[in-house]
Amino acid sequence: MSKREFPKGFLWGGATAANQFEGAWKEGGKGISVADCARSHLDIDVKDYKRQNAVTTEDVLKALETEDTVYYPKRRGSDFYHHYKEDIALLAEMGFKCFRMSIAWSRIFPNGDDSEPNEEGLQFYDKVFEELEKYGIEPLVTMSHYEPPVNLVLNYDGWYSRELIGMFTKFVETICRRYKDKVKYWLTFNEIDSIIRHPYTTGGLIEDRFSGKNFEEVIFQAMHHQFVASALATKICHEIIPDSMVGCMLTKKTIYPYSCRPEDVLIAQQNMRSTYCYGDTQVFGEYPSYLLARFKNRGINIVKESGDDEIIKKYPVDFVSFSYYSSLCAAEPREGLKEAVGNNSTAYENPYLSSSDWGWQIDPLGLRISLIDLYDRYRKPLFIVENGLGAKDIVKEDGTIDDQYRIDYFDAHFKAMLDAIEYDGVDLLGYTSWGCIDLVSESTKQMSKRYGFVYVDCDDYGNGTFERIRKKSFDWYKKVISTNGASLFEE
Ligand code: BG6
Repeated sequence: MSKREFPKGFLWGGATAANQFEGAWKEGGKGISVADCARSHLDIDVKDYKRQNAVTTEDVLKALETEDTVYYPKRRGSDFYHHYKEDIALLAEMGFKCFRMSIAWSRIFPNGDDSEPNEEGLQFYDKVFEELEKYGIEPLVTMSHYEPPVNLVLNYDGWYSRELIGMFTKFVETICRRYKDKVKYWLTFNEIDSIIRHPYTTGGLIEDRFSGKNFEEVIFQAMHHQFVASALATKICHEIIPDSMVGCMLTKKTIYPYSCRPEDVLIAQQNMRSTYCYGDTQVFGEYPSYLLARFKNRGINIVKESGDDEIIKKYPVDFVSFSYYSSLCAAEPREGLKEAVGNNSTAYENPYLSSSDWGWQIDPLGLRISLIDLYDRYRKPLFIVENGLGAKDIVKEDGTIDDQYRIDYFDAHFKAMLDAIEYDGVDLLGYTSWGCIDLVSESTKQMSKRYGFVYVDCDDYGNGTFERIRKKSFDWYKKVISTNGASLFEE
């Protein structure tokens, strides 16, 4: 049998987001973002996803009164802002071809509605891109990853306001012009479907600000504005950078029916549509009929301006990117089923799978199934821009970190990816593992939920030197990249 390896030019790398990685929340003229005010893990059950997302106006106002970085860990992140040279050198040492990062909107337009961009913020990313270029690492930039300026929440009610389309496209135009020679791959909104699960983080929406309104309708109105903004961002990007590739970014929820009962199958299918409706709109350029039916049946009225549908139709995305951590099981509720925890949604535990320390079920074959599903549906190149194992790592007395469990996780997922490419005909552009250097968790805001090949010496309370330490998986991934996956099949 001939040697198995990934397609030539496969973009191996890792992913981060400014709000969880950069820190320096008030430096360099940066404004405050929703992430800087997000409640920490310190007073919540890390497995209670509903509670984590219940942000109130009072919470935000309280957050704005304090400089505390213990209760608000995203304010310190992993301090990439001051470590970017060292961090990028580490990525280069692993042989990264690609690095996914986001540009913090509030670093460029501190309040979102400013007339001029913050030059110091722009310069920071100039330096980051120059450093990446030095090592031949291709940046993959998310325009919005859970970080709208908080001013837009308090004074405009977030993405519910149509005015955000103009402010966002101004931000997009600014960064596309500035980095046109440096960045070819772009993503518009991270996990655009997550607005329904965490409206505050994704859409800047706080329920108590909409009394008397149907909050579900508010969320879908904001979603509509994001669809228009995403299409316009694609247009702007293509105009300014003709060879750019712009992708959507979805949370891939691969949902199995818990049993072969038709009721379970239907529920699984319906749940899958809750993500597909976003991809369908961004790829096919129109709202799918099942989403319109949902609006009608639930009495939801979306206010559109004339021309919106044409914009969405005219500027679809070039590729489909997604996060994949786990599959889920859906069932008609009944006795005896155990609820599973996962990426901000609840489902039933799959008895055939094991789980991470945080209860996320591990399913490499589910990644292959996801790739097939998405490719069959969209027939666009795919990009896995998040995947990985959040685990507790221990630094041994000799200073080493033996994360064999992470190597095992990646090994199985990479083989599933290659099967999808070779046996199922999927066109996969690349793979960026989540949190390639440890960063603050989105859902629980913990530092101890680590994903990286590189350890960051900082605990859940911000204690530590922020020193970077290579884990065992560092050399393993380096070898995978240098052999383009062939090392996965070595004895
Ligand atoms: C994705 C997000 O949902 O999952 C990331 O895009 C997030 O921002 C990642 O960090 C992993 O989730 P968590 O909660 O373990 O950080």
